[in-house]
Amino acid sequence: MNKKIAVLPGDGIGPEVVASAISVLDEVANQFGHSFTYTYGKLGGKAIDEDGEPLPEKTIAICKESDGILLGAVGGPKWDGLPGHLRPEKGLLGLRKELELFANLRPVAIFDSLRKASSLKEEVIEDVDLLFVRELTGGIYFGEPRERRGAGEEEVAIDTLVYSRAEMRRIIRKAFELAKVRKNHVTSVDKANVLETSRMWREVAEEVAQEFPEVELEHMLVDNAAMQLIRQPKQFDVIVTENMFGDILSDQASMLTGSLGMLPSASLSSDGPGLYEPIHGSAPDIAGKGLANPLATISSAAMMLKYSFGLIKEGDAVEKAINEVLTNGYRTADICEDGKEPLSTEQMTKKVVDVLRKNAAIQA
Ligand code: IPM
Ligand code: MN
Repeated sequence: MNKKIAVLPGDGIGPEVVASAISVLDEVANQFGHSFTYTYGKLGGKAIDEDGEPLPEKTIAICKESDGILLGAVGGPKWDGLPGHLRPEKGLLGLRKELELFANLRPVAIFDSLRKASSLKEEVIEDVDLLFVRELTGGIYFGEPRERRGAGEEEVAIDTLVYSRAEMRRIIRKAFELAKVRKNHVTSVDKANVLETSRMWREVAEEVAQEFPEVELEHMLVDNAAMQLIRQPKQFDVIVTENMFGDILSDQASMLTGSLGMLPSASLSSDGPGLYEPIHGSAPDIAGKGLANPLATISSAAMMLKYSFGLIKEGDAVEKAINEVLTNGYRTADICEDGKEPLSTEQMTKKVVDVLRKNAAIQA
């Protein structure tokens, strides 16, 4: 199979972790007889520095022509002082909107060998296997008006939380479809005791539930959901929620696994290419030091193999390799237990590639 991958390394540790994922993809291509070609594009701070804007047209074109997009991370203190429309984050938000990547999938699963890395008790987190389905192109991130009005102490700042029924329906449907191939349970998270958008969200969720009689629907208020994620995370299967609630809750849930450095994500549209990125940020404090954990980006690449290319056994092979490396006790600094020697980004990547190679040799 020939696939064109758009690669947007971005800022901070982005280029390092993206290079890791590409080493793994190359190994997969080699082993399974595929050919992946990579076209690099600029996004975020790098694009601001070199092209004067966070999302150059050229980058959008590269992405649109691809079969899948691999992204590192964007942002850093260097660009913090810039006005909103010129911030690196605006590049990422623009790309999500431009490609209509409305469905953001963020799986949170516990690796047995990492149970001790979580700040929560082992019995709370064992067997946790949940999936966030976060709405990604609407809500308060994009609503208009967004502006400042007035001056002095009377100055006000406005953001707008707005969703159409159609936007709600397509993301909630996606969650139900995914629940069908998991444990048939959807928790819809909202703030229906306060927000009008949430009250309509509940109505739409009830309507969608009628289409999926085998899937159980539960509504949960977002404050309670934040508490339940820490109290008893095992109760969740698929969690569907709007853009900002999903942003906050998925960072929180990542700590169940011990590190933000472990979690992948996929952002999907209804037909175009999907975008795959770790949920962690650009970590400017450790950039260029070889300290970053590449596993979230490598598992994002595994999601690309499965969701965009339909290469299920290839994606499984990568996930199995990650699991095996962790079981063998290898750790990067962020997940390292006391007394262990942490591996660098490159060393960790090599471990994953080596295990992939070893497992292929066993099968052959
Ligand atoms: C994420 C990030 C982004 C978001 C930022 C960088 C705009 O936090 O992907 O979760 O808020 O969506
Ligand atoms: Mn976030």
